Amino acid sequence: ELTDITTLLLSRIRDVADYPEPGVMFKDITPLLADPAAFTALTDALAEIAGGTGATKIVGLEARGFILGAPVAVRAGVGFIPVRKAGKLPGATLSQAYDLEYGSAEIEVHAEDLTAGDRVLVIDDVLATGGTAEASLQLIRRAGAEVAGLAVLMELGFLGGRARLEPSLAGAPLESLLTI
Ligand code: PRP
Repeated sequence: ELTDITTLLLSRIRDVADYPEPGVMFKDITPLLADPAAFTALTDALAEIAGGTGATKIVGLEARGFILGAPVAVRAGVGFIPVRKAGKLPGATLSQAYDLEYGSAEIEVHAEDLTAGDRVLVIDDVLATGGTAEASLQLIRRAGAEVAGLAVLMELGFLGGRARLEPSLAGAPLESLLTI
């Protein structure tokens, strides 16, 4: 069964060469989202992980983490919290800056959405360098909440994100359905 879902998910991810820049192989998940059997299988697998971690909230990372995380939150019966790029949330926010290859980026969450006592599972489509995920884990901790884990559809193993995240995960699980 495990092999079946791996094959199904992989078959619905499209490799796009030289996007968004030369030398980058972009992993396009839109074929997977357009296939109800594949999207349902993915949602089920992530919801099982959510249940296993005992998460009381799901954080989704903009933008594709919203698409994957929201149905998981509904399925798991817990709240969904968007972590957005800076400047998109109207209320009082906590912000976390992080380094990119060139320059830096910043993500935000509504401060009132995460509190002490929450166990938070972060969901995203891709783990690459781990910079975005690491910043999200820092946001969760700064809000006083507990990190239940990080779950991604795919992990680009050659970029070393897993090793980078070890300190900020602090023993919480990192689950990836596909390793590329
Ligand atoms: C991608 C991806 C992850 C992040 C992974 O998002 O969806 O969120 O990059 O990269 P990292 O591990 O090196 O931080 P992107 O920044 O393209 O945002 P988008 O989904 O809003 O286009």
